[in-house]
Amino acid sequence: MVSLQLSVRTVRRKAIIVLGLIGSVGLIACDRAPVAAQPATDGSRLYGAYCLSCHQARGNGVPGVQPPLAGTPVPIGDPDTLLAWVMFGVRPADLPRGHYAGVMPQFNYLSDAQLASLLTYVRSSFGNEASAITVEQVAGVRLQHAGR
Ligand code: HEC
Repeated sequence: MVSLQLSVRTVRRKAIIVLGLIGSVGLIACDRAPVAAQPATDGSRLYGAYCLSCHQARGNGVPGVQPPLAGTPVPIGDPDTLLAWVMFGVRPADLPRGHYAGVMPQFNYLSDAQLASLLTYVRSSFGNEASAITVEQVAGVRLQHAGR
């Protein structure tokens, strides 16, 4: 009887240890997954990597050289127009040539998901309050300008 009770207790303890282990592995997995996904889709990080050097941390640009992304029409305007400019350098009507000394590179080498989250970040930061950009919108503009 005593030995039976003992073994039940041992089994229970083992079960608790095993459950605890599964739990911590689960926690570690949950903890790691978003971190691994970040470089590809984190809008603010992508902004830091590809746009900040010219448009600055607060999106205020450099007078006469690079325009601000806050309070200017293109970043918060029509998504397709914004995408065509950022991806392929198709000049929007709202950005007349010759106002800025700098030249902006084209970013069509970024993935649809990267551009969607990057531009969604730009459209909702620095005081901007424009709609999000979807992966489908990016793919649509890419298709439209294929072969450029
Ligand atoms: C090397 C500097 C440089 C980098 C990097 C750069 N830009 Fe630009 N950007 C410019 C310049 C210069 C202009 C104005 C170009 C012109 O008028 O010909 C501009 C214009 C713009 C405009 C239009 C602003 C307006 O006045 O309406 C948008 C939107 C924009 N950039 C977004 C981005 C985004 C998003 C990124 C990062 C993916 C980026 N830029 C990276 C230099 C840069």
